[in-house]
Amino acid sequence: MATEQKRSMLVIAAGSEVADAIVNAFSGEHDLRIDTKDTTLAQMNGKAIRAMADYDVIMFQASPDDSSDIEAIQTLVSNRSNETTLVALADGDISLSKARALSNAGVDEVLPLPKGDGEIDAQMLRLSRKKAARHSGGAVHQGCLIAVAQARGGVGSTTVAVNLADQLCLGKGRFSRGTKPKVALVDLDLQFGTIGSFLDLGEQDALLQLAMDGKVPDATFLTQSMVDLPSGLSVLAAPSSFAPLDSLRSDQVAAIIDTLRESYDFVVVDMPRALVGWIEPIVQRADEMMVVTDMSVSSVRHCRRLIDFFTQDNLSLPVQVVVNHQHKPLMQTRLHREAAKVLDRKLEHWLPHDPRAACGAADRGKPLSVAAPRSPLGKAMSRLARATLSGRQLATQQAAK
Ligand SMILES: Nc1ncnc2c1ncn2[C@@H]1O[C@H](COP(=O)(O)OP(=O)(O)OP(=O)(O)O)[C@@H](O)[C@H]1O
Ligand SMILES: [Mg+2]
Repeated sequence: MATEQKRSMLVIAAGSEVADAIVNAFSGEHDLRIDTKDTTLAQMNGKAIRAMADYDVIMFQASPDDSSDIEAIQTLVSNRSNETTLVALADGDISLSKARALSNAGVDEVLPLPKGDGEIDAQMLRLSRKKAARHSGGAVHQGCLIAVAQARGGVGSTTVAVNLADQLCLGKGRFSRGTKPKVALVDLDLQFGTIGSFLDLGEQDALLQLAMDGKVPDATFLTQSMVDLPSGLSVLAAPSSFAPLDSLRSDQVAAIIDTLRESYDFVVVDMPRALVGWIEPIVQRADEMMVVTDMSVSSVRHCRRLIDFFTQDNLSLPVQVVVNHQHKPLMQTRLHREAAKVLDRKLEHWLPHDPRAACGAADRGKPLSVAAPRSPLGKAMSRLARATLSGRQLATQQAAK
């Protein structure tokens, strides 16, 4: 008789409050065994830490300020099996640099400590299910995450995010083999997002709701909140009313991205200008970053700072520079060569200055593929999407070798 393989989770926390809240959150998961240890990682010796290698998920209370905690995490990281997911439970107000210290130490996820009201259930369940899929031999679908950022306000990053997502949906190019990728577009420019007006969407307040009630979104919430356009593109727009910038949390943003990646082939994110703490999950997870810039000295310098920020924790992150408002030159000038040197990268993509097409699309609330497909800007966007599709196909082929 085949025995059912149970998933296993270990919770390490001093006092029973945290462990009880987690056990409660998972009370409906009958194929999950939860063990608890009433202590801290730092108090456990190397032998005890090595004995934990067989758990699918280990959740532990962590304080990144404490160097003995960080050392214990490093011991755990070097002794864990490849299949174990490490989740640090930290104070909900943890700063970007402290969350970074935990991920640098090798932690897979940083979640806020549960408060006993089930607040983080969705995020935890998602993690545990992901492990379950791996254990039952199923592969977890991981769509490609593309973050689009801007070197200065108004340079055209929303235009790029909207039209890249729209054109990816069309699945053109020799690498797509006739299949149309599923694409989600997320406006994380929480306060000044304009994707809703670029695509003439009605008011959408899902992100405002998350910011206000602090819940961690699950797949049902996202499906209900996203608008599906006739092209197949699904959009999560920014709120139409004001939301304080610090009202979103990293675990909420991580849940949005992880959930969408499970059902979409591409997730394109229009990034906020401010480098707030909750963009960390995007920095960690991005498969590709596009920085939109022009050739002014200040934009190029800011572009370099942004690239440094994004690649600091994700050294292998491919960064594509998109030069907006300029035709691709036949011969690069000294200015272009100097900019490429400052950026330490090729100026990969060029989008011509084309106010007629840009304004026409904006006025109609349609992407360029509908409003001005044959315009210079419309064609350049189509090339950008084709290059992105080809790049992903090559990356997937190389990874499979
Ligand atoms: N290549 C282009 N040619 C002409 N106009 C353009 C081009 N790209 C963008 N625009 C126009 O520039 C304006 C700003 O573009 P967009 O909103 O995409 O920039 P942004 O970087 O997202 O700005 P924000 O800082 O407001 O988020 C829009 O009116 C858009 O139609
Ligand atoms: Mg914008």
